[in-house]
Amino acid sequence: MDYDLVAAQARALFEGERDAVANAANLSALIFGAFAGLNWAGVYFVRGEQLVLGPFQGKPACVRIARGAGVCGTAWARDETLVVPDVHAFPGHIACDSASNSEIVVPLRSSGLVVGVLDVDSPLPDRFAASDREALEALAALYAASSDFS
Ligand code: SME
Repeated sequence: MDYDLVAAQARALFEGERDAVANAANLSALIFGAFAGLNWAGVYFVRGEQLVLGPFQGKPACVRIARGAGVCGTAWARDETLVVPDVHAFPGHIACDSASNSEIVVPLRSSGLVVGVLDVDSPLPDRFAASDREALEALAALYAASSDFS
């Protein structure tokens, strides 16, 4: 995966557009196509005390996740990226697609607040290396800075 190329594509897609849903749709499609070995990539938005499903690529997923629940709700509550090499070993993991074996969740921050999460799943065990984490955190930051959330 050529990260510089993907980042340039993301910048081009977000340029001149600040709608958070539209940009999340393109972010999901870009990640799903650019990273090998994924079965799901998408965004959940913070709505009150829950995360609510936003645009994604992959199979249909659970719509609402409470703060602190699953990998997504835990990443939100802790305000930190979670890399889970084996989802079956993560207490409280929410299995939306039984094919998933590893997962990374990156908080989306705007004006210092978590406004959502980027969730990426793989059927491969331990799919997400440090380089993937860096790339996905950079794409998440680019998306959040390019979009309006209020
Ligand atoms: N596995 C996530 C739920 C979302 S799906 O993977 C798309 C979790 O445990 O929060």
